[in-house]
Amino acid sequence: MSEIQLKSATATAPSNIALIKYMGKTSNHDGTNRPVNSSLSLTLSGFRSHVRVSEIEKERGAIDWAPFRKAGLQAPELSERGREKFFQHAVRCFERLGSGLPQRGILIESANDFPSDCGLASSASSFAALTLAIATFLGLDVEERSVRSKLSALSREGSGSSCRSFFSPWSVWNEEGASRGEGLPGSNLLTHVALVVDDSKKRVSSSEAHQRVSTSLLMRGRPERAETRLNLLLDCLKRSLGTDGQTSWNRAAQLVWAESWDMHALFETSDPAFGYFAPESLRVLNLVRDMNEAALSRDASFRFPLVTMDAGPNVHLIFWKSEQASLYIDDLRTKVRSFARMIEGALI
Ligand code: PMV
Repeated sequence: MSEIQLKSATATAPSNIALIKYMGKTSNHDGTNRPVNSSLSLTLSGFRSHVRVSEIEKERGAIDWAPFRKAGLQAPELSERGREKFFQHAVRCFERLGSGLPQRGILIESANDFPSDCGLASSASSFAALTLAIATFLGLDVEERSVRSKLSALSREGSGSSCRSFFSPWSVWNEEGASRGEGLPGSNLLTHVALVVDDSKKRVSSSEAHQRVSTSLLMRGRPERAETRLNLLLDCLKRSLGTDGQTSWNRAAQLVWAESWDMHALFETSDPAFGYFAPESLRVLNLVRDMNEAALSRDASFRFPLVTMDAGPNVHLIFWKSEQASLYIDDLRTKVRSFARMIEGALI
């Protein structure tokens, strides 16, 4: 008797950190995650989710999940709701990209090579990887430009921010969908550092946050504010490559700081209010502010790190690579050692 070949496909996708945030969905949204404003992110190509989709000897329609076991990968703890969302997205992908679920059951295995559910945007990378794994399973050319745009739009329906993970190193998500941000500094010029002060699961999911911020009075004017800031930021980032790039880069740092506080202010002014800061998050922010001043007084050409927090207590810093930046990072690692873990290498 000949053995039946069970089909299987694997894909990986990077996480991304937003510098202009996607927070809040349009009120007439149809479940397809339409944001109230455009957003901009940096793709963290060294923080990846891995997904394998395989046929299993079960009836058509059966879907199971298991952790992807491979050296260096950390299996996420998927809640019942998380699993449900993942399965719904798998069905959506099979229906839209092919002719429905395969004849046999399927097993989805997933894991990350970075800590999950702590504001390091694992939902973005895992939904992007799931979309890519199913497209690969169905034989699509996932590198082809138009296919990629289509997959990004499809992935957005599972997790909004995942649509940005299809483009790098910068991704802009506006009314036309997500696409690569052009004319911006390359990842070879930048270093990303995450300071993890708490890697426990967050109490308010980002789906819940998107809903609750609609009760904040600060939501009035937020779309306009975010669009204005996005345009200014894109301009500063482009100019940061030119003559007098330092002034533009440091202006970009100011805009990124303001944007991060803007989103967290939306959280704290919602009804009921909620927030993600830990005492150590503030400790990091204050330390960075002091270190910035000291670095600038030592070297007038110093470029400040871009500092932002996602929906979590951890702090992301994006440095313009330089000798000074390396010394700063070493110093920072020592200073936070008792209360934060530094993770580097997200940009490769
Ligand atoms: O894609 P979601 O629904 O997990 O929303 C993510 C929203 C933030 O991470 C808080 C901001 C962003 O733009 O990534």
